[in-house]
Amino acid sequence: MSINGTTKICATIGNPVEHSLSPVMHNAAYEEMGLNFVFLACKVLDVKKALDGVRGLNFRGLSVTMPHKIEAMKYLDDIDETAQKIGAINTIVNDNGKLKGYNTDYAGTTLALLEKTKIKGKNVVLLGAGGAARAIAFGLKKEGANITIINRTKDKASGLAKFIDAKVDDLSNIIKIKVDILINATSLGMDPNVNISAMPQEYFRKNMTVFDIVYRPKETKFLREARESGCQIVYGYKMLLYQAVAQFELFTQKKAPVAIMEKALLDALERKN
Ligand code: ATR
Repeated sequence: MSINGTTKICATIGNPVEHSLSPVMHNAAYEEMGLNFVFLACKVLDVKKALDGVRGLNFRGLSVTMPHKIEAMKYLDDIDETAQKIGAINTIVNDNGKLKGYNTDYAGTTLALLEKTKIKGKNVVLLGAGGAARAIAFGLKKEGANITIINRTKDKASGLAKFIDAKVDDLSNIIKIKVDILINATSLGMDPNVNISAMPQEYFRKNMTVFDIVYRPKETKFLREARESGCQIVYGYKMLLYQAVAQFELFTQKKAPVAIMEKALLDALERKN
């Protein structure tokens, strides 16, 4: 599809954005579907000015990444109820100059997990209580999971647990809990710290489904040890994929070509390794 006078423009905004994988996924999907859209990456320091620009230039949508996920909310005309509750957005849709914020991060995790396991009624242990953990916890709660939060800083675990009506525990107690789904929502194990895991290997049990939000490397130490312990694993890139799938559907109002987006993402990750 060549760019012309009717091309709709979408972009990811953040700082840094040089290594963003959103353009490859979205552009591959536009090409596959023959849509006259283009997806760019814009390094943004001042989010207010960027959103004025989106209105002025009539961009169709934005993927919002660090560090703007909370601040951007101040400058929107409307915010989806779930994103409001989570307290962060990662997506903005521009409908005739009216900007509405959404959060597709929580749906990303839910859809990634649902490929491999049911969530309703399952015991989920969430490692971490930061921004990513908050969106994930919210999605899991919505799906009807029983959630336990474990975090280095106890106050943050308690705060999140109160918000979604979950339990709090210590990592060392994990062997005493019947865990169906275990999620690392901390940054531990992210490249270049690839020899660190969020949990000692002896805590894995073979009936667990284990998910890591870290996607560089594709298989973290946490996931490798889970796999070696007989657990079913879900790669972190799946969350990245499915949050983009949900964004694509918001921007274009069409069903996303998931397999094409997944291939584009995996190829890009491969190139970067
Ligand atoms: P994000 O928005 O990406 O979730 P964040 O809000 O900084 O980032 O949260 C990072 C998470 O990783 C937190 O749960 C953090 O634990 P604390 O709340 O105790 O800071 C966790 N984390 C980061 N480094 C850690 C480490 N070395 N050991 C244990 N937990 C760590």
